[in-house]
Amino acid sequence: KKIIFSGIQPTGCITLGNYIGALKNWVDLQNDYNCLFSVVDLHSITVRQDSALLRKRCIEFLVQYLACGIDAEKNILFFQSHVPQHAELSWVLSCFTYMGELSRMTQYKDKCAKHADNINAGLFTYPVLMAADILLYQTDLVPVGSDQKQHLEITRDIAMRFNGVYGNVFKIPEGFTPKAGARIMSLQEPTSKMSKSDPNENGFISILDTPDAIVRKIKRAVTDSDNLIKVREGHDGINNLINIYSAITKKEISDIEAEFDGKGYGDFKQSVAEAAVEELRPIRERYNALIKDKAYIEEIYKKGALAAQKLASRTLSKVHRKLGFVDRK
Ligand code: TYM
Repeated sequence: KKIIFSGIQPTGCITLGNYIGALKNWVDLQNDYNCLFSVVDLHSITVRQDSALLRKRCIEFLVQYLACGIDAEKNILFFQSHVPQHAELSWVLSCFTYMGELSRMTQYKDKCAKHADNINAGLFTYPVLMAADILLYQTDLVPVGSDQKQHLEITRDIAMRFNGVYGNVFKIPEGFTPKAGARIMSLQEPTSKMSKSDPNENGFISILDTPDAIVRKIKRAVTDSDNLIKVREGHDGINNLINIYSAITKKEISDIEAEFDGKGYGDFKQSVAEAAVEELRPIRERYNALIKDKAYIEEIYKKGALAAQKLASRTLSKVHRKLGFVDRK
């Protein structure tokens, strides 16, 4: 079987954007691949975090993976910081990455603008750690939202550069983005992406939101006054809702447009809200049951770390040997 790696940063809360862009596809792909899904805690500290909150949130994120339907028996689930090989490979890869290519990363530029008081080196080398995450496991496929495309491109470039010097050490990974929903937009500002750290709670839906909250946020979603359910350039608000509806119901855009021909935004929002409520209801219920089982959760991430370490150390040993480091014996 081919290999999948993906991860989510434990910041804010897991949104409908993360779910549609990534998590839902992990669930769909898990039977056909050997998968590793990580809570990428090392990445999250590029922005200051409260320690107690971060610890709690890491566990909550792992449990949300399970609640979404990720099978802990079939897949390797772990915290990135439990597998030291990520940081080790990251150092090596940073010596094969140019300052110029890192400074062209749009996410880096965005973060610099948002966190002007803390532009740390980790923010800059973030894509190198992400490359290490992926390349450590000889990953074939990386299911992510379209905002990660540039990071995947640099991962491939770093891998090819290394392979060019040392032979075939790394598998060159491919990205996987969903047809509908690769970029879910904010419900309040539909020209920017739905973000888990948006201070305006009406801009995003958490996958653990109650049905009431989901309905309220979708009803309040910003649209224009056109009242046409049709994907058209410049109509970002309604386009976004159509995308969300298409991703959840798996209906084609053209079928949705036909279904709501002659109806207005009110009717459509009602249908989108119902679809989202029903999609997320079982997730919230499973989450509320699972989060209480501390022993079970611990067993999963301990087992996951061991399994991931075993795979990661194979790649890392090979890398060290190729580089010319003395064998540990
Ligand atoms: P993160 O934590 O920002 O987001 C997690 C996943 O959700 C996707 N996503 C979205 N998809 C659609 N619409 C949106 N509005 C939206 N917002 C987020 C992201 O594309 C991502 O797939 N750098 C990564 C985490 C990471 C990673 C990795 C991912 C670290 N190492 C290795 C894959 C492989 C990030 O910040 O994702």
